[in-house]
This record gives sequence, structure tokens and C-alpha cells, in this order.
Amino acid sequence: MSSKIKIAPSILSADFSRLAEDVIKVENGGADLLHIDVMDGHFVPNITIGPVVVQALRPRTRLPLDVHLMIENPERYVDAFADAGADYLTVQVEACVHLHRVLQAIRARGMKAGVALNPHSLLSSIEEVLPDLDLILIMSVNPGFGGQKFIPQALDKLSRTRKLLKERSATHIEVEVDGGVKLQNAQEIVNAGAQILVSGSEIFGSKDPAETVREMKRLCD
Ligand code: DX5
Ligand code: ZN
Repeated sequence: MSSKIKIAPSILSADFSRLAEDVIKVENGGADLLHIDVMDGHFVPNITIGPVVVQALRPRTRLPLDVHLMIENPERYVDAFADAGADYLTVQVEACVHLHRVLQAIRARGMKAGVALNPHSLLSSIEEVLPDLDLILIMSVNPGFGGQKFIPQALDKLSRTRKLLKERSATHIEVEVDGGVKLQNAQEIVNAGAQILVSGSEIFGSKDPAETVREMKRLCD
């Protein structure tokens, strides 16, 4: 497991009328993954994009596509996102009656399997599926929108996540944090245990997204 901190800009805050241009900017800035937020208007009170946008972006970037499904019944869309070119597929633990089966289905299609925990969700809810996980996404906002404030309880949850992975000899699982990540709090979040930082409005809301990615990496490495 590399100790390098990875930056995953979230396209939710990008300019959707010039999406590929914005993606190329953050790729040039040294982004490590591209975080793609899929919302269905049911699991969260917002609707964003589906597999067709992943498919459109796939040939335009070399970045691994880190797809975050904030949708009900995500098991229905594993094939569609695999076919569209997703590299990581993360489901919300709260949306999965049969989480173990969904994670197996994701891996069966050659993608890395991730699970996201909302701020209220217990870390213990994923203990039994650690063998089936490549990524744990700790939500530091209530999902649905960009530009929200970082929930400080996420720091302790990040530390407890890393402790759990060490205890279970599962440190190959990457720990990602998502929501309210800024230049100002990035270092503190990394110190708490995050290995992948998702950041949307801080990066795409800045006048130079590429430079903001570089700055975030400088602060964290
Ligand atoms: C929220 C999404 C996040 C969001 C992050 O539901 O999962 O990925 O886009 O955006 P910022 O960094 O603006 O909080
Ligand atoms: Zn997200």
C-alpha cells in the first residue's frame, strides 16, 4: 500500500457545460482519481448523472474513475457502470440490504469495491465484509450536495477506521474521505488517517483547479 496521499476531485462542482475541459485541468494538476457522484433523487434529495456521463468521460482521461453511487438499489447498476468504464464503484451501506452480494458483484466485473458510510452509520456495519472491500469512504457531510461544511466527527471515525484495518490486517483497503475537504483542513484530515481526499467545490470553485490540486498535494505529502 503506497503511503502517497491521493487527491480525487469531485466533478459535482465542475462546469458541466465544459466537463471534459475541467477534467483535463485537474488531471494536469496531478489528480490521482476522478470522483464521480451519482445521485438518484431518492437516496439523496438531488439528481445528478448516470452511466452515460462515465462512458463519455472514459476516453477523455487516463484517471481512474472513482464512482460514488448515492442511489437506492445500487446492485441494479453494477453492470451499467462497469460497461461505462468505472474503476472503483462505491455503494452506500445504508442502501444495501445484501451488501456482501453487491460487493462481490462489483469485483466480479473487475472493479474495485467500495462502501460509503454516512455520518451516522457505524463502522461496525462493515466489519464482516472487510475481505470483500478495496475502499472505505467516510462521508464527512450528509450526501447530496457539494459546498457543505466538514463534519468534525469524521476525524475520529477516520482514525477508528485505520485502527480497525490494522487490527484486521486489512491495511490494503484504502480509506477515502468525502465532503467539505479544503486546503485549510486537508492536512488535519490526512493526519486522522485519510489516504484519498475527495474535494469538489474547493478545487472546481477555484480560479485555477490545477493549481489547487497541486497545492492540496503539497500540503498533504
Ligand atoms: C456529496 C458528494 C461529495 C461532494 C464533495 O454528496 O458525495 O463527493 O461532491 O464536494 P465538496 O468537496 O464541495 O464538499
Ligand atoms: Zn462523493
